[in-house]
Amino acid sequence: MGSRFRGAHDRRAKVAGMSSTEMRTPAQRVHVGAIAEVLRTLEIEGPVLVLGSKRSVAAVDWGGLESRLALTYFDRSEPHNPQRVVDEAIRLARDVAPRTIIAVGSASAIDLGKTVRKEIDALAVAIPSTLGGAEMSRGYGVLQATHEKAVGATRHVYAEVCYDPELLATLPTATLGASGLNAWAHTIEARYAGREHWLGRAAAEAAGRRLPALLLEAAASRHVALHRQLFEAAHLAGFALNACGMAIHHATCHALGGLTRIPHGVLNAMVLPHALRLNGRLAPAALAEVAASFAIVDLVWEAERVRDAYKLPRTLAELGVPRETTELAIEPIFASPLLRNNPAPVERGDLVDLLCAVYG
Ligand SMILES: [Fe+2]
Repeated sequence: MGSRFRGAHDRRAKVAGMSSTEMRTPAQRVHVGAIAEVLRTLEIEGPVLVLGSKRSVAAVDWGGLESRLALTYFDRSEPHNPQRVVDEAIRLARDVAPRTIIAVGSASAIDLGKTVRKEIDALAVAIPSTLGGAEMSRGYGVLQATHEKAVGATRHVYAEVCYDPELLATLPTATLGASGLNAWAHTIEARYAGREHWLGRAAAEAAGRRLPALLLEAAASRHVALHRQLFEAAHLAGFALNACGMAIHHATCHALGGLTRIPHGVLNAMVLPHALRLNGRLAPAALAEVAASFAIVDLVWEAERVRDAYKLPRTLAELGVPRETTELAIEPIFASPLLRNNPAPVERGDLVDLLCAVYG
């Protein structure tokens, strides 16, 4: 972890009898602790618009703050953040005119918060419930009716981010594993991406070394200390993703996600071993450098080991996806700007082979 972060980590506060850690950067504060206790320290002003899915909104313990903050809930966030949902949320936000927007949930809910914040001037707070790391990035995706994912970016990062290990504890184990593989993929792609950023690479290395072991441990047994460590790693992975960008693996996951609506984490589990094999062939030195910096002998084997520990799907065929879907994915992947960030050029034939392997 860089000195800019290490110094900020020294700031500690006792909140309601529990240890809470706060990290400050110029544009963003990151908190680890119980949601209600953290929110009390932020002096948030209402009205507050809460954005998330039914599951994530219901999972939050607001600790009696509901009436003081004048919470209005929009709990219709969906995987892949469809445009229809974004439009509904923005309409509600214009009616409520919130002073604060709180996005709670997976990367889709966190991305929804970014799209609303773009339209409404309010304090933006992210409460992630998965390891997707979207709270650390400016980028977001919105699923169009055409099944393509429109990508955008906001100039605002979340001003406040709250990681509550107890909230992560409510996540089903298979979903934790899938989102953990997504976070690990962020570290790998950030580490070998063409866009150089030394602090981003350092964050990628720190999280990339730790995530597989943490995920294997969590597949067997989960506890609060482990959830806290997983959040720390996912936070670094999200920072690395924002700094260094993504490559062929995420270009493939985004295209298949738009076409199939399979959750992003599950797609990561299916695609990652094959994307790594492809780059092992196209850019062996880059892949070997990532493996060495993570102190992991075989990245492909490690990705499959974590996937299997959580009994995640191995192929699109297992989920009943029509084979033609892989043909429809080729053009969006080939057109993706993420390919330019890959450590080696990718030909159309490489994509056909990759999708064939992912299909099974
Ligand atoms: Fe991702």
